[in-house]
Amino acid sequence: MQIKKAVFPVGGMGTRFLPATKAIPKEMLPVVDKPLIQYAVEEAYAAGIREMIFVTGRHKRAIEDHFDTAYELEAELAAANKNELLDLVNSIKPEDMNCIYVRQPKALGLGHAVMCAESLVGDDPFAVLLADDLMLGAEQTKGGPTVLQQMVQAYESQPGIVLAVQDVPKEDTKRYGVVDVRGADARQAEVFGMVEKPSPEKAPSTLAVAGRYILTPSVFQSVREQPRGAGGEIQLTDGIAALIGKEKVYAFRYDGKRYDCGSKEGFLQATVDLALANPELSTALRAHLATLG
Ligand code: UTP
Repeated sequence: MQIKKAVFPVGGMGTRFLPATKAIPKEMLPVVDKPLIQYAVEEAYAAGIREMIFVTGRHKRAIEDHFDTAYELEAELAAANKNELLDLVNSIKPEDMNCIYVRQPKALGLGHAVMCAESLVGDDPFAVLLADDLMLGAEQTKGGPTVLQQMVQAYESQPGIVLAVQDVPKEDTKRYGVVDVRGADARQAEVFGMVEKPSPEKAPSTLAVAGRYILTPSVFQSVREQPRGAGGEIQLTDGIAALIGKEKVYAFRYDGKRYDCGSKEGFLQATVDLALANPELSTALRAHLATLG
């Protein structure tokens, strides 16, 4: 079954980026010249998805505006014959892409945010992308697949829930959902257990879930049935973990890099790496970095 819909939970508070995120959604912070949410939407689009469902919250209007028409701007660019810029603005939302918004009334956790999209998702499997994880496929800048594209291919060859995973240092397991896999070296390995933010002693492995998922609609009921999890939040991990044994759940080692742009370090790393990969910026930035010694 084809993956046609993507859910973008953007209802979080973004407290790690205060004061920047007081009035601006975290997902609108730009890496070089593009907001985080646009990177994620482009990744989903490249994977063949055309229906984008945003689970928003208060103070998230800028995201809706970003994917909407900007009449004044477009008219002014057209009048000034700034056609390249006009094309750039128009390309943010291709005509065959549909954007739908639903509100998460309270930031009760990622599981709760995903549940808010239930009636819009319907009965088919769907993707979930956390825009604050900026993912770059290993060969993406040379036309290779994005991380979600790789996951969709994995799903098509072996249908089931697919979780993007990466190896992390043991001391970092407490920051992630961590999976228990057998056949640990396989690119796509079956998951036998999963726990949210385990301490290094309790972590079943060092394979951490990154912010890309292919889920089946049964996850909604499963999340609903779970008690509040780590941090008092309604956790997506707990809902997925409860499906293990009832449905196939796979960990997928993607080929690429993840930047945790919800944290300042990850955000800065993404900015430097993407600027260095940008032909217009790389020479000047390299020269600047060289002066720092
Ligand atoms: P985070 O754990 O990064 O939380 O959420 P946050 O609130 O956005 O950021 P900090 O920790 O306060 O700085 C992971 C993802 O889940 C979404 C966030 O928008 C982010 O993409 N989320 C989280 C929701 O949509 N709703 C929630 O209630 C919680």
